[in-house]
Amino acid sequence: MESQRFATAILAAGKGTRLKSKRAKVLHSIAGKPLLQHVLDSVLKVTSPDQVFVVVGHQAEQVERAVSANRVHFVVQTQQLGTGHAVQCLADSVCGPGDLLVLSGDVPLIRPETIEDLRKFHRSQKAVMTILTARPENPFGYGRVIRVSPTSPEVAAIVEQKALANDQQHVGEINSGIYVFHIETLFRHIDALQSNNAHREYYLTDMAAILRDAGERVVAYEISDATEVLGANTIAEMMELEGALRMQAARKLMAQGVTIHRPETCVIDADVAVGADTILEPFVQLLGKTQVGQDCRIRSYAVIQDSRIGDGVLIRNGCVLDEATIGDGAFVGPFAHLRPGSQIGTGAHVGNFVETKNARLGEKSKANHLTYLGDVSVGSGCNIGAGVITCNYDGVNKHPTQIGDRVFVGSNSTLVAPVAVGDDSYIAAASCITEPVPAGALALGRSRQTVKAGWVKRRRAAQPKKKEG
Ligand code: UD1
Ligand code: CA
Repeated sequence: MESQRFATAILAAGKGTRLKSKRAKVLHSIAGKPLLQHVLDSVLKVTSPDQVFVVVGHQAEQVERAVSANRVHFVVQTQQLGTGHAVQCLADSVCGPGDLLVLSGDVPLIRPETIEDLRKFHRSQKAVMTILTARPENPFGYGRVIRVSPTSPEVAAIVEQKALANDQQHVGEINSGIYVFHIETLFRHIDALQSNNAHREYYLTDMAAILRDAGERVVAYEISDATEVLGANTIAEMMELEGALRMQAARKLMAQGVTIHRPETCVIDADVAVGADTILEPFVQLLGKTQVGQDCRIRSYAVIQDSRIGDGVLIRNGCVLDEATIGDGAFVGPFAHLRPGSQIGTGAHVGNFVETKNARLGEKSKANHLTYLGDVSVGSGCNIGAGVITCNYDGVNKHPTQIGDRVFVGSNSTLVAPVAVGDDSYIAAASCITEPVPAGALALGRSRQTVKAGWVKRRRAAQPKKKEG
Protein backbone atom coordinates (compact mmCIF):
# COMPACT_ATOMS: atom_id res chain seq x y z
CA MET A 1 0.00 0.00 0.00
CA GLU A 2 1.42 3.35 -1.08
CA SER A 3 0.85 5.23 2.19
CA GLN A 4 2.56 2.56 4.27
CA ARG A 5 6.06 2.60 2.78
CA PHE A 6 8.47 4.55 4.95
CA ALA A 7 12.04 4.63 3.69
CA THR A 8 14.87 6.35 5.54
CA ALA A 9 17.91 8.24 4.28
CA ILE A 10 20.78 9.23 6.54
CA LEU A 11 23.13 11.85 5.11
CA ALA A 12 26.66 10.95 6.13
CA ALA A 13 28.88 11.88 3.20
CA GLY A 14 30.23 15.21 4.47
CA LYS A 15 33.78 15.75 5.68
CA GLY A 16 32.96 17.80 8.74
CA THR A 17 35.37 20.64 7.94
CA ARG A 18 34.48 22.48 11.15
CA LEU A 19 35.77 19.54 13.23
CA LYS A 20 39.34 20.05 12.01
CA SER A 21 39.88 16.29 12.23
CA LYS A 22 41.39 13.70 9.91
CA ARG A 23 38.47 11.40 10.63
CA ALA A 24 35.07 11.79 8.98
CA LYS A 25 32.62 13.55 11.30
CA VAL A 26 30.07 10.74 11.53
CA LEU A 27 32.82 8.36 12.76
CA HIS A 28 33.58 10.48 15.80
CA SER A 29 32.25 8.75 18.90
CA ILE A 30 30.18 10.12 21.71
CA ALA A 31 29.04 8.02 24.66
CA GLY A 32 30.96 5.06 23.30
CA LYS A 33 29.71 4.85 19.71
CA PRO A 34 30.00 6.77 16.45
CA LEU A 35 27.54 9.60 15.74
CA LEU A 36 26.15 7.65 12.79
CA GLN A 37 25.52 4.58 14.94
CA HIS A 38 23.45 6.66 17.36
CA VAL A 39 21.22 7.72 14.45
CA LEU A 40 21.03 4.15 13.15
CA ASP A 41 20.10 2.78 16.58
CA SER A 42 17.13 5.14 16.76
CA VAL A 43 16.06 4.53 13.16
CA LEU A 44 16.28 0.75 13.44
CA LYS A 45 13.88 0.84 16.38
CA VAL A 46 11.13 2.10 14.06
CA THR A 47 12.02 0.63 10.66
CA SER A 48 13.72 -2.38 9.12
CA PRO A 49 17.29 -2.20 7.76
CA ASP A 50 16.28 -2.97 4.15
CA GLN A 51 14.44 0.39 4.08
CA VAL A 52 17.45 2.38 5.33
CA PHE A 53 19.85 4.12 2.91
CA VAL A 54 23.02 5.76 4.19
CA VAL A 55 24.63 8.29 1.87
CA VAL A 56 28.41 8.01 2.20
CA GLY A 57 31.19 9.91 0.44
CA HIS A 58 34.09 11.28 2.45
CA GLN A 59 36.00 8.23 3.81
CA ALA A 60 33.14 6.12 2.46
CA GLU A 61 34.92 2.81 3.05
CA GLN A 62 35.68 3.51 6.70
CA VAL A 63 32.16 4.77 7.32
CA GLU A 64 30.61 1.70 5.69
CA ARG A 65 32.89 -0.61 7.64
CA ALA A 66 32.12 1.09 10.96
CA VAL A 67 28.38 0.48 10.63
CA SER A 68 28.28 -2.58 8.34
CA ALA A 69 26.78 -4.75 11.09
CA ASN A 70 23.50 -2.83 10.74
CA ARG A 71 22.81 -4.41 7.31
CA VAL A 72 21.53 -1.18 5.76
CA HIS A 73 22.09 0.02 2.17
CA PHE A 74 24.87 2.42 1.24
CA VAL A 75 24.73 4.91 -1.61
CA VAL A 76 27.88 6.77 -2.60
CA GLN A 77 27.88 10.52 -3.19
CA THR A 78 31.22 10.81 -4.96
CA GLN A 79 31.43 14.59 -4.71
CA GLN A 80 29.91 16.33 -1.73
CA LEU A 81 27.94 19.05 -3.43
CA GLY A 82 25.51 19.64 -0.58
CA THR A 83 22.65 18.05 1.35
CA GLY A 84 20.25 18.48 -1.60
CA HIS A 85 22.72 16.77 -3.93
CA ALA A 86 23.12 13.94 -1.39
CA VAL A 87 19.37 13.27 -1.63
CA GLN A 88 19.49 13.53 -5.44
CA CYS A 89 21.99 10.65 -5.37
CA LEU A 90 19.23 8.50 -3.80
CA ALA A 91 16.73 8.98 -6.62
CA ASP A 92 17.29 5.56 -8.21
CA SER A 93 17.51 3.54 -4.99
CA VAL A 94 14.57 5.12 -3.19
CA CYS A 95 12.11 5.92 -6.00
CA GLY A 96 8.62 4.53 -5.66
CA PRO A 97 5.54 5.13 -3.57
CA GLY A 98 5.48 6.20 0.07
CA ASP A 99 7.43 8.62 2.25
CA LEU A 100 11.11 9.23 2.87
CA LEU A 101 12.49 10.20 6.26
CA VAL A 102 15.74 12.15 5.89
CA LEU A 103 18.12 12.49 8.82
CA SER A 104 21.62 13.87 9.30
CA GLY A 105 24.41 11.62 10.48
CA ASP A 106 25.53 14.45 12.75
CA VAL A 107 22.26 14.90 14.68
CA PRO A 108 22.70 11.89 16.97
CA LEU A 109 20.30 12.42 19.87
CA ILE A 110 17.11 11.95 17.89
CA ARG A 111 14.79 9.50 19.70
CA PRO A 112 12.74 6.79 17.98
CA GLU A 113 9.58 8.15 19.64
CA THR A 114 10.13 11.51 17.93
CA ILE A 115 10.58 9.83 14.55
CA GLU A 116 7.25 8.06 15.07
CA ASP A 117 5.54 11.32 16.07
CA LEU A 118 6.99 13.08 13.03
CA ARG A 119 5.75 10.35 10.72
CA LYS A 120 2.24 10.53 12.23
CA PHE A 121 2.17 14.33 11.99
CA HIS A 122 3.32 14.24 8.36
CA ARG A 123 0.57 11.82 7.43
CA SER A 124 -2.15 13.61 9.40
CA GLN A 125 -1.18 16.89 7.69
CA LYS A 126 -1.23 15.31 4.23
CA ALA A 127 1.97 17.25 3.56
CA VAL A 128 4.62 16.52 0.93
CA MET A 129 7.37 17.86 3.21
CA THR A 130 7.39 18.01 6.99
CA ILE A 131 10.30 19.65 8.75
CA LEU A 132 11.19 18.70 12.31
CA THR A 133 11.89 21.95 14.17
CA ALA A 134 12.73 23.21 17.65
CA ARG A 135 13.61 26.43 19.46
CA PRO A 136 17.00 25.99 21.15
CA GLU A 137 18.37 28.62 23.52
CA ASN A 138 20.88 29.67 20.89
CA PRO A 139 19.69 29.18 17.29
CA PHE A 140 22.86 30.66 15.77
CA GLY A 141 24.30 28.62 12.93
CA TYR A 142 21.14 26.70 12.10
CA GLY A 143 18.81 27.16 9.17
CA ARG A 144 15.64 29.01 10.28
CA VAL A 145 12.12 28.00 9.48
CA ILE A 146 9.96 30.78 8.08
CA ARG A 147 6.32 29.94 8.65
CA VAL A 148 3.56 31.39 6.49
CA SER A 149 2.23 32.95 9.70
CA PRO A 150 3.26 32.42 13.34
CA THR A 151 0.27 30.20 14.08
CA SER A 152 0.22 28.26 10.81
CA PRO A 153 1.80 24.82 10.48
CA GLU A 154 2.71 25.77 6.90
CA VAL A 155 6.24 26.78 5.98
CA ALA A 156 7.22 29.24 3.28
CA ALA A 157 10.96 28.62 3.29
CA ILE A 158 14.05 27.55 5.23
CA VAL A 159 16.77 30.19 5.31
CA GLU A 160 20.35 29.31 6.19
CA GLN A 161 22.13 31.39 8.86
CA LYS A 162 24.32 33.22 6.34
CA ALA A 163 21.35 34.17 4.16
CA LEU A 164 19.09 35.52 6.93
CA ALA A 165 17.62 38.91 6.08
CA ASN A 166 17.63 41.56 8.80
CA ASP A 167 13.98 40.97 9.65
CA GLN A 168 14.61 37.20 9.87
CA GLN A 169 17.49 37.36 12.39
CA HIS A 170 15.07 37.09 15.32
CA VAL A 171 13.51 33.80 14.12
CA GLY A 172 14.14 31.23 16.84
CA GLU A 173 12.69 28.16 15.16
CA ILE A 174 15.46 26.05 13.66
CA ASN A 175 15.55 23.40 10.97
CA SER A 176 16.77 20.19 12.62
CA GLY A 177 17.92 18.72 9.30
CA ILE A 178 15.31 15.98 9.79
CA TYR A 179 12.40 15.81 7.36
CA VAL A 180 9.76 13.55 5.88
CA PHE A 181 9.07 13.86 2.13
CA HIS A 182 6.52 12.34 -0.16
CA ILE A 183 8.96 10.45 -2.35
CA GLU A 184 7.41 10.94 -5.77
CA THR A 185 6.79 14.65 -5.25
CA LEU A 186 10.31 15.18 -3.87
CA PHE A 187 12.03 13.61 -6.86
CA ARG A 188 9.67 15.28 -9.33
CA HIS A 189 10.95 18.67 -8.10
CA ILE A 190 14.45 18.04 -6.79
CA ASP A 191 16.19 19.05 -10.00
CA ALA A 192 14.94 22.61 -9.41
CA LEU A 193 17.66 22.96 -6.73
CA GLN A 194 20.36 25.51 -7.51
CA SER A 195 23.72 26.23 -5.95
CA ASN A 196 23.66 30.04 -6.06
CA ASN A 197 24.38 30.46 -2.33
CA ALA A 198 27.22 31.19 0.09
CA HIS A 199 28.70 27.67 -0.15
CA ARG A 200 27.94 26.98 -3.83
CA GLU A 201 26.11 23.87 -2.70
CA TYR A 202 22.75 22.28 -3.46
CA TYR A 203 20.83 22.80 -0.23
CA LEU A 204 18.09 20.32 0.65
CA THR A 205 16.56 23.14 2.67
CA ASP A 206 15.62 24.94 -0.56
CA MET A 207 13.09 22.19 -1.25
CA ALA A 208 10.71 23.90 1.21
CA ALA A 209 10.28 26.98 -1.00
CA ILE A 210 10.47 24.97 -4.24
CA LEU A 211 7.64 22.67 -3.16
CA ARG A 212 5.52 25.47 -1.77
CA ASP A 213 5.96 27.51 -4.94
CA ALA A 214 4.77 24.43 -6.84
CA GLY A 215 1.57 24.57 -4.78
CA GLU A 216 2.48 21.68 -2.47
CA ARG A 217 1.93 21.57 1.29
CA VAL A 218 5.06 22.05 3.42
CA VAL A 219 4.66 22.01 7.21
CA ALA A 220 6.74 22.19 10.38
CA TYR A 221 6.49 19.85 13.35
CA GLU A 222 7.99 21.55 16.41
CA ILE A 223 9.27 19.59 19.40
CA SER A 224 9.65 21.09 22.86
CA ASP A 225 13.07 19.73 23.86
CA ALA A 226 15.61 21.11 21.42
CA THR A 227 18.45 19.00 22.89
CA GLU A 228 17.30 16.06 20.83
CA VAL A 229 17.98 17.79 17.53
CA LEU A 230 21.18 19.67 18.27
CA GLY A 231 23.85 19.12 15.65
CA ALA A 232 27.50 18.22 16.16
CA ASN A 233 29.59 20.39 13.86
CA THR A 234 32.54 21.07 16.19
CA ILE A 235 34.32 19.03 18.87
CA ALA A 236 32.89 21.36 21.51
CA GLU A 237 29.34 20.77 20.27
CA MET A 238 30.01 17.06 20.19
CA MET A 239 31.17 17.06 23.82
CA GLU A 240 28.07 19.04 24.81
CA LEU A 241 25.89 16.41 23.18
CA GLU A 242 27.87 13.71 24.93
CA GLY A 243 27.29 15.43 28.26
CA ALA A 244 23.56 15.59 27.49
CA LEU A 245 23.49 11.91 26.48
CA ARG A 246 25.32 10.84 29.60
CA MET A 247 23.04 12.84 31.84
CA GLN A 248 20.13 11.17 30.03
CA ALA A 249 21.66 7.74 30.66
CA ALA A 250 22.34 8.65 34.31
CA ARG A 251 18.79 9.92 34.80
CA LYS A 252 17.39 6.75 33.29
CA LEU A 253 19.44 4.63 35.69
CA MET A 254 18.49 6.78 38.67
CA ALA A 255 14.82 6.32 37.71
CA GLN A 256 15.50 2.59 37.94
CA GLY A 257 16.79 2.83 41.51
CA VAL A 258 20.52 3.38 40.96
CA THR A 259 22.19 6.00 43.16
CA ILE A 260 24.70 8.08 41.23
CA HIS A 261 26.63 10.61 43.28
CA ARG A 262 27.60 13.66 41.26
CA PRO A 263 26.28 12.15 38.00
CA GLU A 264 27.84 14.95 35.97
CA THR A 265 31.29 13.50 36.80
CA CYS A 266 30.45 9.95 35.74
CA VAL A 267 30.88 8.58 32.24
CA ILE A 268 28.13 6.08 31.51
CA ASP A 269 27.82 4.79 27.95
CA ALA A 270 24.42 4.52 26.32
CA ASP A 271 24.22 0.71 26.38
CA VAL A 272 25.26 0.20 30.02
CA ALA A 273 22.82 -1.53 32.41
CA VAL A 274 22.91 -1.19 36.22
CA GLY A 275 20.67 -2.92 38.78
CA ALA A 276 18.64 -1.25 41.53
CA ASP A 277 20.27 -0.22 44.83
CA THR A 278 23.70 -0.08 43.28
CA ILE A 279 25.70 2.98 44.24
CA LEU A 280 28.06 4.72 41.86
CA GLU A 281 30.47 7.15 43.49
CA PRO A 282 31.73 10.28 41.69
CA PHE A 283 34.09 9.88 38.71
CA VAL A 284 33.11 6.33 37.82
CA GLN A 285 33.26 5.24 34.17
CA LEU A 286 31.00 2.44 32.93
CA LEU A 287 31.75 1.87 29.27
CA GLY A 288 30.65 -0.19 26.28
CA LYS A 289 28.32 -3.05 27.06
CA THR A 290 29.07 -3.17 30.80
CA GLN A 291 26.40 -4.67 33.03
CA VAL A 292 26.35 -4.17 36.78
CA GLY A 293 23.99 -6.09 39.07
CA GLN A 294 22.02 -4.97 42.11
CA ASP A 295 23.33 -3.80 45.50
CA CYS A 296 26.85 -3.13 44.24
CA ARG A 297 29.10 -0.26 45.18
CA ILE A 298 31.46 1.11 42.57
CA ARG A 299 33.89 3.46 44.20
CA SER A 300 35.48 6.53 42.63
CA TYR A 301 37.86 6.31 39.67
CA ALA A 302 36.89 2.80 38.62
CA VAL A 303 37.00 2.46 34.81
CA ILE A 304 34.93 -0.53 33.70
CA GLN A 305 34.74 -1.54 30.04
CA ASP A 306 32.56 -4.30 28.52
CA SER A 307 32.40 -6.22 31.82
CA ARG A 308 29.74 -8.17 33.67
CA ILE A 309 29.43 -7.57 37.38
CA GLY A 310 27.08 -9.67 39.55
CA ASP A 311 25.04 -8.59 42.57
CA GLY A 312 26.44 -7.22 45.83
CA VAL A 313 29.91 -6.61 44.40
CA LEU A 314 32.29 -4.00 45.78
CA ILE A 315 34.67 -2.44 43.29
CA ARG A 316 37.03 -0.21 45.22
CA ASN A 317 38.76 2.94 44.02
CA GLY A 318 40.97 3.06 40.99
CA CYS A 319 40.22 -0.35 39.48
CA VAL A 320 40.47 -0.92 35.72
CA LEU A 321 38.27 -3.72 34.37
CA ASP A 322 38.23 -4.76 30.73
CA GLU A 323 36.06 -7.64 29.51
CA ALA A 324 36.00 -9.11 33.00
CA THR A 325 33.28 -11.09 34.75
CA ILE A 326 32.76 -10.66 38.49
CA GLY A 327 30.62 -13.07 40.54
CA ASP A 328 28.09 -12.06 43.20
CA GLY A 329 29.49 -10.71 46.44
CA ALA A 330 33.09 -10.39 45.21
CA PHE A 331 35.43 -7.60 46.37
CA VAL A 332 37.87 -6.03 43.95
CA GLY A 333 40.63 -3.46 44.52
CA PRO A 334 41.61 -0.84 45.25
CA PHE A 335 43.88 -0.47 42.21
CA ALA A 336 43.29 -3.87 40.63
CA HIS A 337 43.67 -4.38 36.88
CA LEU A 338 41.37 -7.06 35.51
CA ARG A 339 42.16 -7.62 31.86
CA PRO A 340 40.17 -9.55 29.23
CA GLY A 341 39.12 -13.05 30.22
CA SER A 342 39.27 -12.43 33.96
CA GLN A 343 36.53 -14.40 35.75
CA ILE A 344 36.29 -13.63 39.42
CA GLY A 345 34.10 -16.14 41.29
CA THR A 346 31.30 -15.61 43.77
CA GLY A 347 32.57 -14.12 47.01
CA ALA A 348 36.17 -14.01 45.77
CA HIS A 349 38.56 -11.21 46.75
CA VAL A 350 41.00 -9.47 44.46
CA GLY A 351 43.03 -6.93 46.36
CA ASN A 352 45.33 -4.02 45.70
CA PHE A 353 47.84 -4.05 42.88
CA VAL A 354 46.64 -7.37 41.55
CA GLU A 355 46.64 -7.91 37.78
CA THR A 356 44.67 -10.71 36.17
CA LYS A 357 44.41 -11.75 32.52
CA ASN A 358 42.60 -14.79 31.15
CA ALA A 359 42.37 -15.91 34.74
CA ARG A 360 39.65 -17.72 36.62
CA LEU A 361 39.55 -17.23 40.37
CA GLY A 362 37.11 -19.71 41.93
CA GLU A 363 34.45 -19.17 44.55
CA LYS A 364 35.72 -17.50 47.75
CA SER A 365 39.32 -17.59 46.62
CA LYS A 366 41.52 -14.65 47.53
CA ALA A 367 44.39 -12.89 45.83
CA ASN A 368 44.68 -9.89 48.04
CA HIS A 369 48.01 -8.22 47.37
CA LEU A 370 50.52 -7.50 44.60
CA THR A 371 49.90 -10.51 42.39
CA TYR A 372 49.96 -11.34 38.69
CA LEU A 373 47.57 -14.09 37.59
CA GLY A 374 47.80 -14.73 33.83
CA ASP A 375 46.47 -17.75 31.88
CA VAL A 376 45.50 -19.48 35.08
CA SER A 377 42.61 -21.35 36.54
CA VAL A 378 42.40 -21.14 40.33
CA GLY A 379 39.82 -23.35 42.08
CA SER A 380 37.62 -22.40 45.01
CA GLY A 381 38.66 -21.56 48.56
CA CYS A 382 42.30 -20.84 47.63
CA ASN A 383 44.58 -18.27 49.15
CA ILE A 384 47.06 -16.69 46.79
CA GLY A 385 49.66 -14.95 48.96
CA ALA A 386 51.15 -11.52 48.49
CA GLY A 387 53.44 -11.15 45.50
CA VAL A 388 52.59 -14.45 43.82
CA ILE A 389 53.38 -14.49 40.11
CA THR A 390 52.29 -16.92 37.42
CA CYS A 391 55.12 -16.97 34.91
CA ASN A 392 52.95 -17.61 31.85
CA TYR A 393 55.31 -16.36 29.16
CA ASP A 394 58.57 -18.00 28.13
CA GLY A 395 59.51 -15.23 25.74
CA VAL A 396 57.84 -17.00 22.80
CA ASN A 397 54.66 -18.74 23.96
CA LYS A 398 52.09 -18.40 26.71
CA HIS A 399 51.45 -21.41 28.99
CA PRO A 400 48.66 -22.24 31.43
CA THR A 401 48.77 -22.75 35.19
CA GLN A 402 46.22 -24.99 36.86
CA ILE A 403 45.53 -24.61 40.58
CA GLY A 404 43.00 -26.90 42.31
CA ASP A 405 40.63 -26.18 45.22
CA ARG A 406 41.66 -25.05 48.72
CA VAL A 407 45.27 -24.47 47.73
CA PHE A 408 47.49 -22.17 49.77
CA VAL A 409 50.17 -20.46 47.71
CA GLY A 410 52.69 -18.80 50.02
CA SER A 411 53.73 -15.21 49.48
CA ASN A 412 56.25 -14.30 46.82
CA SER A 413 56.01 -17.65 45.05
CA THR A 414 56.47 -17.97 41.32
CA LEU A 415 54.62 -20.64 39.36
CA VAL A 416 56.46 -21.37 36.13
CA ALA A 417 53.88 -22.45 33.54
CA PRO A 418 52.90 -24.94 32.31
CA VAL A 419 52.38 -26.30 35.79
CA ALA A 420 49.57 -27.91 37.79
CA VAL A 421 48.97 -27.67 41.53
CA GLY A 422 46.64 -30.27 43.08
CA ASP A 423 43.72 -29.75 45.52
CA ASP A 424 44.45 -29.05 49.21
CA SER A 425 48.15 -28.53 48.62
CA TYR A 426 50.46 -25.95 50.18
CA ILE A 427 53.24 -24.05 48.51
CA ALA A 428 55.80 -22.64 50.88
CA ALA A 429 56.47 -18.92 50.71
CA ALA A 430 59.00 -17.75 48.13
CA SER A 431 58.93 -21.04 46.26
CA CYS A 432 59.72 -21.30 42.60
CA ILE A 433 57.39 -24.04 41.37
CA THR A 434 58.42 -25.73 38.13
CA GLU A 435 57.16 -29.29 38.77
CA PRO A 436 53.58 -30.48 39.34
CA VAL A 437 52.42 -30.39 42.97
CA PRO A 438 50.26 -33.42 43.89
CA ALA A 439 47.03 -33.02 45.87
CA GLY A 440 47.52 -32.64 49.62
CA ALA A 441 51.31 -32.09 49.34
CA LEU A 442 53.54 -29.37 50.67
CA ALA A 443 55.89 -28.06 48.00
CA LEU A 444 59.02 -26.14 48.90
CA GLY A 445 60.90 -24.73 45.99
CA ARG A 446 63.56 -22.62 47.63
CA SER A 447 67.01 -23.01 49.07
CA ARG A 448 67.38 -23.76 52.76
CA GLN A 449 68.10 -20.91 55.08
CA THR A 450 71.62 -20.88 56.49
CA VAL A 451 72.32 -19.16 59.81
CA LYS A 452 75.87 -18.17 60.72
CA ALA A 453 75.87 -17.47 64.44
CA GLY A 454 78.12 -14.62 65.62
CA TRP A 455 78.97 -13.60 62.03
CA VAL A 456 78.49 -9.87 62.51
CA LYS A 457 80.84 -9.66 65.46
CA ARG A 458 83.57 -11.61 63.63
CA ARG A 459 83.21 -9.43 60.52
CA ARG A 460 83.52 -6.23 62.49
CA ALA A 461 86.61 -7.52 64.27
CA ALA A 462 88.23 -8.41 60.94
CA GLN A 463 87.57 -4.99 59.36
CA PRO A 464 90.30 -2.33 59.76
CA LYS A 465 89.14 0.57 61.93
CA LYS A 466 88.11 3.68 59.92
CA LYS A 467 90.20 6.74 60.62
CA GLU A 468 88.26 9.53 62.36
CA GLY A 469 87.71 12.89 60.51
C1 UD1 B 1 22.13 21.59 7.88
C2 UD1 B 1 20.96 22.39 7.28
C3 UD1 B 1 20.52 23.44 8.29
C4 UD1 B 1 20.13 22.77 9.59
C5 UD1 B 1 21.27 21.90 10.12
C6 UD1 B 1 20.78 21.08 11.29
C7 UD1 B 1 21.41 22.43 4.88
C8 UD1 B 1 21.85 23.26 3.73
N1 UD1 B 1 21.41 23.05 6.08
O1 UD1 B 1 23.21 22.48 8.07
O2 UD1 B 1 19.40 24.15 7.80
O3 UD1 B 1 19.78 23.75 10.55
O4 UD1 B 1 21.74 20.97 9.10
O5 UD1 B 1 21.79 20.36 11.90
O6 UD1 B 1 21.04 21.30 4.70
N2 UD1 B 1 26.17 15.85 3.89
C9 UD1 B 1 26.24 14.95 2.84
N3 UD1 B 1 26.64 15.38 1.62
C10 UD1 B 1 26.95 16.67 1.38
C11 UD1 B 1 26.87 17.59 2.45
C12 UD1 B 1 26.47 17.15 3.70
O7 UD1 B 1 25.96 13.76 3.01
O8 UD1 B 1 27.29 16.99 0.23
C13 UD1 B 1 25.75 15.34 5.21
C14 UD1 B 1 26.78 15.63 6.29
O9 UD1 B 1 27.67 14.51 6.41
C15 UD1 B 1 25.92 15.83 7.53
C16 UD1 B 1 24.59 16.31 6.99
O10 UD1 B 1 24.60 16.05 5.60
O11 UD1 B 1 25.73 14.60 8.22
C17 UD1 B 1 24.38 17.80 7.24
O12 UD1 B 1 25.44 18.53 6.63
P1 UD1 B 1 26.13 19.75 7.36
O13 UD1 B 1 27.17 20.28 6.48
O14 UD1 B 1 26.51 19.40 8.74
O15 UD1 B 1 24.90 20.80 7.39
P2 UD1 B 1 24.72 22.01 8.39
O16 UD1 B 1 25.59 23.13 7.99
O17 UD1 B 1 24.80 21.55 9.80
CA1 CA C 1 25.49 19.69 10.72
